[in-house]
Amino acid sequence: MDFVPMTARAPTFDWTAIAQYNRSEIKDELALEEVLTRPRPELVELIRTLDSPLVILGAGGKMGPTLAVLARRAAQAASHPLEIVAVSRFGNPDTKQWFEQRGVRTWSADLLDRRATESLPDSRNVIYLAGQKFGTQQNPAATWAANTLAPAHTAERYSGARIVALSTGNVYPFVSIKGRGAREDDDLTPLGEYANAAVARERIFEHLAAKQSTPMVLLRLSYAIDLRYGVLHDIARSVWHSVPVNVGSGCFNCIWQGDANEFILRAFGIAANPPATLNLTAPSVCSVRDVATRFSELFDRPVRFIGTESDTALLSDTTQLSRMLGRPQTSLASMIGWTAQWVRDGGLSLNKPTHFDVRDGKY
Ligand SMILES: NC(=O)c1ccc[n+]([C@@H]2O[C@H](COP(=O)([O-])OP(=O)(O)OC[C@H]3O[C@@H](n4cnc5c(N)ncnc54)[C@H](OP(=O)(O)O)[C@@H]3O)[C@@H](O)[C@H]2O)c1
Repeated sequence: MDFVPMTARAPTFDWTAIAQYNRSEIKDELALEEVLTRPRPELVELIRTLDSPLVILGAGGKMGPTLAVLARRAAQAASHPLEIVAVSRFGNPDTKQWFEQRGVRTWSADLLDRRATESLPDSRNVIYLAGQKFGTQQNPAATWAANTLAPAHTAERYSGARIVALSTGNVYPFVSIKGRGAREDDDLTPLGEYANAAVARERIFEHLAAKQSTPMVLLRLSYAIDLRYGVLHDIARSVWHSVPVNVGSGCFNCIWQGDANEFILRAFGIAANPPATLNLTAPSVCSVRDVATRFSELFDRPVRFIGTESDTALLSDTTQLSRMLGRPQTSLASMIGWTAQWVRDGGLSLNKPTHFDVRDGKY
């Protein structure tokens, strides 16, 4: 399912209409969008350093829409003339319309098509979000193509530009839940074809960065939290609908999508050659059992668990992120409170489960 916010129905977009929202609660998609796209001063400062246009590749998914609008609002706050171009295949025309209503230019292209990629607009600042994870079991070749050919075409097209490319915490193997979490210089020896294709995505960017002296940042993201998808959304929905919660993979890291998007944009400031590599998530280690128990208390509904906590999980150390870009602003308590209210009120679900409990690398 494509990202189709309810607000796509509105003919034009009026930011002043949502200024009234109280940050302590997020009752609908308009309020969610406002909170996810409100720029902080650090971002307003950084955005002044970006030449126009800012090109976002793979923008039509879960993160791209609010990332583009966050950049646009930051540029407006800085009085900086920055055109933002969202590139995706845009199978769903509503997604395209959603961007355009918010002043973001759209460009339909398939990054697997070398010629289409060569025809993309020139830019000195490129964000790369495209990727494929789910469906790998059914069609592993498509996952490898998406995660290798598209990065190669992109790096060739934007040789010499600054590229901030999304990777994933899945590039690491499971680590001890008692340890520090995976660090950026740990070996990339994960389990399963998706995770190994994600390693290949990084290696191809790295290879072409070296060959073409392109400054880059590779961001290994672990679990962005929107209220319409994400690991907290998945756990809350299980508790609300009395579906047992699997605690086999007992711990995780996650980060508010607004914070993740801010870091993605601010990462232009640390682009380097060879590429800078950063884990991107919040430092807290969340216990699946504790989070589910908290939702159970908030819903006043019982929770049932299945499985037994393993002594390993996918966890990342965020020391480098804190040192280079700071700490995420949004607390776990806020994310849990907002998610509980969202699920209780029947808020939209993108129906894109994270499958956070997968331990065999099969997606
Ligand atoms: N969200 C998370 O929690 C999370 C966690 C870890 C890592 N990440 C990484 O962060 C990146 C962004 O996350 P996301 O959640 O926004 O991913 P997403 O929902 O999968 O969005 C990526 C979008 O890229 C577009 N795309 C894919 N192949 C393309 C192609 N060949 N040409 C043009 N566009 C293409 C697709 O939109 P169209 O169908 O319109 O083309 C897709 O919706 C992903 O690469 C992912 O690996 C995300």
